[in-house]
Amino acid sequence: MAKFLIRENGPLHGEVTISGSKNAMLPIMAATLLTDGKCQIMDVPRLRDVDVMCNMLRRIGADVQEDYDNNTLYIEATEITDNEAPYALVSKMRASILVLGPLLARTGRARVPLPGGCAIGARPVDLHLKGFAALGAKIVEGKGYVEAVADKLIGCNLYLDFPSVGATENIMMAAVLAEGTTVIENAAEEPEIVDLANFLNKMGARIKGAGTDTIKIEGVEKLNGVLHNVIPDRIETGTFMVAAAITRGNILIRNAVPDHVKPVIAKLKECGVVIEDCLDGLLVRGDVNPLVATDIKTLPYPGFPTDMQSIFMAFLTTVQGTSNVIETVFENRFMHVAELERMGARIETEEDRKAMITGVEKLKGAEVLATDLRAGAAVVLAGMVAEGETQVSEIYHIERGYERFIDKFRALGADIERVEEKVKE
Ligand code: UD1
Repeated sequence: MAKFLIRENGPLHGEVTISGSKNAMLPIMAATLLTDGKCQIMDVPRLRDVDVMCNMLRRIGADVQEDYDNNTLYIEATEITDNEAPYALVSKMRASILVLGPLLARTGRARVPLPGGCAIGARPVDLHLKGFAALGAKIVEGKGYVEAVADKLIGCNLYLDFPSVGATENIMMAAVLAEGTTVIENAAEEPEIVDLANFLNKMGARIKGAGTDTIKIEGVEKLNGVLHNVIPDRIETGTFMVAAAITRGNILIRNAVPDHVKPVIAKLKECGVVIEDCLDGLLVRGDVNPLVATDIKTLPYPGFPTDMQSIFMAFLTTVQGTSNVIETVFENRFMHVAELERMGARIETEEDRKAMITGVEKLKGAEVLATDLRAGAAVVLAGMVAEGETQVSEIYHIERGYERFIDKFRALGADIERVEEKVKE
């Protein structure tokens, strides 16, 4: 098992280039199953999650060629040989369930295993299945799995109980080959939904309204292979913005899309960070003003992203004053609080949804865990400004979702290395 060793560094300085978006990439890869044509995807980030999706597509019958020298993937699903998202892959990566919509649309059948025999109504995929049912699929609950089966999908009007990103994507992918028109109301509005819709429209789909809460999809008979460049990763962008702030540094973030990180820009500015739009991205300066507390509340896009909550909280532990953080999108997304407390942060939580953070003079290096992908990034950033050495274990979470994570930080002046952890006797 590998871990990161981080020693306190001074302010980070320099330039960094943002990679392609993980969360745009994964649904787009799944969408390639909708055609027997060849798709070429460019600006692909090299990540564990992308590897898992490559394996998933191969299991289903697609030919996947990786050309990482050019950040490109070629995917051709001439034939579908399996209609199931295997448990081994679904349990590794929740986004594996994004193959269900395309499988159902292309073959009339899609099966997903359910851990511990949970019922159809259980939270993780209930909105996805409700959408498939509205399109006319029969939902069959078997022993440890759920299957959606349809001779033909028929366009429908449906309202999502919550603007789930994955459910919007899955239903959109199923509806593009349905007969007639589908309208998804209370749809998720994330930039990744727009990128997926652009990809599908290039393939020949007819989707309007992606990026708003109402998406209209006119079904078509067939889709074609296409070439597509994936959008830059807005959460990686936000991570480097916060890195400039927490280290009181000065970072030029290239290939950033300012429109995609508006709430992060607004909140950092409230704290005193100076942010300027440049030709090719954003200049973020934490070295101009004394930095102070603010409050954040996570919400579906265009609200403050839940994926930035832990990272922003790490920063708030270092500013003057008291900040409040409210998490509304996920339950139990405060695992990083205990890790930050190990480093000397002062945080009080209420019902695992609210946190009150009082800035401290100095964090202290400690042995901590990357409890998930973004929580991992949060403790790494905290480690950069903590006195002494911080050891971060379980870094596979971080490597799932950040391309060349430590190389990019080292180039900005971070003192971080990856070491193999000795197995305890
Ligand atoms: C996506 C992102 C993830 C991000 C999240 C919210 C990808 C690959 N992942 O995840 O990084 O944190 O959006 O911005 O794009 N829910 C249900 N029933 C469902 C589906 C979801 O109750 O059928 C609930 C979830 O438990 C959660 C909330 O809805 O509480 C949001 O989930 P959702 O928007 O679906 O997130 P993902 O698509 O899984």
